[in-house]
Amino acid sequence: MYCIRDCSLSDFADIIEIDREAFNSTNPTFDLFVYVTYGSDIIVADIGRKVIGYLVLMDSGKDAKIMSFAVKKEFRNRGIGSMLMDEAIKRCRERGKGRLLLEVRVSNISAQEFYKKRGFKIIDTIPSYYSDGEDAYLMCLDLWREQF
Ligand SMILES: CC(C)(COP(=O)(O)OP(=O)(O)OC[C@H]1O[C@@H](n2cnc3c(N)ncnc32)[C@H](O)[C@@H]1OP(=O)(O)O)[C@@H](O)C(=O)NCCC(=O)NCCS
Repeated sequence: MYCIRDCSLSDFADIIEIDREAFNSTNPTFDLFVYVTYGSDIIVADIGRKVIGYLVLMDSGKDAKIMSFAVKKEFRNRGIGSMLMDEAIKRCRERGKGRLLLEVRVSNISAQEFYKKRGFKIIDTIPSYYSDGEDAYLMCLDLWREQF
């Protein structure tokens, strides 16, 4: 029913819409520009050609990082985020990456729970990481220790 695949140009409008909805972004087009410029993979979930979720991976030497990750509101809690995360972890392992890192708002408890259930741990706090001044937790998954 859902297809997990690499992003194509025709998915950009859907990704911008999801980004705007999920992060209240004032400039989702610029966000996409950053993903395309610095990301190594933009993995999408589609349902009959419409993209309903995405995860952006960035290469970071021995490690990899999740730059952005969101599922359209009406499609959450159906396993789509898990499928995107599984694909990202699989790609990182295939490339011999040591860790998968991400930043998450300290107020975003539901995302933190999602990550913790999948083996991520908080390893640091980054003060005023976001443009509105909120701190971020740096979370880390050891790709060779955790079992899924
Ligand atoms: C974080 C986020 C991407 C997760 O996406 P999602 O598609 O809702 O994730 P899933 O559906 O795989 O998992 C969420 C819950 O749905 C339920 N679920 C999972 N698979 C399911 C299935 N097949 N059927 C029904 N429910 C399911 C589970 O209860 C799961 O909770 P768990 O963590 O206890 O396993 C999504 O909540 C989101 O877009 N949030 C806003 C943006 C955001 O905060 N991004 C992260 C920034 S760091």
